[in-house]
Amino acid sequence: MAEKREQFRSRLGFILAAAGSAVGIGNLVGFPVNAAKSGGAAFLIIYAAFVVFICLPVMIAEMSLGRNTQRNPLGAYKSIAGDNSVWKFGGWLALITPFMIAVFYQVLTVWLLGYFIGAVSGNLEAMSQPGYFGDFINANGVFIYLGVLTLLIGVILNSGVQNGIERLAKVLMPSLFIMLIALTAFVLTLPNALKGIEFYLVPEFSKIDLSTVNIALSQAFFSLSLGMGILITYGSYVSKKESVAGGAKMVAMVDTSVAFFAGLLILPAIFVFNPQINTDELSSSSVALVFTFLPKIFLSLQGSIGFIGASIFASAFFLLVFFAAITSQVSILQVPISAFQDQLKYSRFKSVLVLGACAALLVIASMVSFGRVEFFSEFLAYGGKTNSFFDLVYDVFYETILPLNGLIVCLFVMYRWRKSKLDQELSVGDDRYQGSFTQKYVNFALSTFVPAILLFVFVSTVLLKFAGISIF
Ligand code: PFF
Repeated sequence: MAEKREQFRSRLGFILAAAGSAVGIGNLVGFPVNAAKSGGAAFLIIYAAFVVFICLPVMIAEMSLGRNTQRNPLGAYKSIAGDNSVWKFGGWLALITPFMIAVFYQVLTVWLLGYFIGAVSGNLEAMSQPGYFGDFINANGVFIYLGVLTLLIGVILNSGVQNGIERLAKVLMPSLFIMLIALTAFVLTLPNALKGIEFYLVPEFSKIDLSTVNIALSQAFFSLSLGMGILITYGSYVSKKESVAGGAKMVAMVDTSVAFFAGLLILPAIFVFNPQINTDELSSSSVALVFTFLPKIFLSLQGSIGFIGASIFASAFFLLVFFAAITSQVSILQVPISAFQDQLKYSRFKSVLVLGACAALLVIASMVSFGRVEFFSEFLAYGGKTNSFFDLVYDVFYETILPLNGLIVCLFVMYRWRKSKLDQELSVGDDRYQGSFTQKYVNFALSTFVPAILLFVFVSTVLLKFAGISIF
């Protein structure tokens, strides 16, 4: 007999869980780095516009597809288009992508855990030295952290949607908001912080070009956890009494506010560290920023708050990002887990075990691809250079397939499932949806310019990454 599908216990639980997925390393690190490099407020404005005008309709489409079909992404595509339709290819992609993204996200989460422990145990001085990061990622300790983390995430996922994911989000998300506000408030009291705020809030439009626009869109897409089947899966656990569009708006708002506050924390901190800083010099990679540059900034705080104060600040920051990463990671893995449960009728425990073991093997392959094992470090040549296994996972799944998945969702919802069905689903639990501005906008956007833009982003990324041709 089919088990009854789980549901989020409450509207707040659902919103916190979806916000838990959305708020992650992307908001706390990716967004501030991009904002710093691309004109501060100008980037912020473009980003916010993309969230509202492009991402929100896609988010609404994904959630309603999930709630309507009560399935994981593969099941959702199949139940609407039939078992043999080519659309199920979209379902497969929406399963494999989160699984592979979980692999690279897990590597970052392992490092965050290591840095948190490093800061707590008084190692901040060493952590701010130039060679530390390279040694750290190739030391044996990372495998211990990986073991601990895999177990922790396995236990959460095995506890289910209500008792695992929803409960975790209800505890971690409010703690995260409080920590973020407290850290931001503290940074703003430091000398020179105002320079950072000025940089962040006064737009510099000259730094904006087409490639910045592209970065803003990818950032917004990733940040809201779109194109990954997550919102289809989470949508399938939402009760029919809730308004899907209302929930999506809340999640987008929370996610964007967290990104905004993270900018308000990191940019002033950079200027406190060095008021003369030329932001062009900041590394383009968020990974380099968080693991090599931030420890230096934190250490420099010892001038005003002493070494212990600086270590507490650094520990709180790494813990904050670690919490955000865990709630995101759990959501990514829930997608293939729900597929194993629905399609293969595996028990939750067996799904968690099988997927956890496969993921752990791929994570290990990624973790040894930073020079430790040559085969994985020089895995494949493309785009004019040799790339590691980690690079490959990142380039293929994060950079390239995400916009493709978004495109497929739009086309599927509008041209296969059809507008009237979408409208009908969105009216369930929301009396005011029919005839609203949101309804008109969502229908228009999803059938016209949103897929066109996603197609453009997909093609330009393929050309850039794999053929070395830049069209910007
Ligand atoms: N949205 C998360 C972040 O901004 O870090 C990352 C993420 C989570 C991406 C879940 C994709 C996903 F499915």
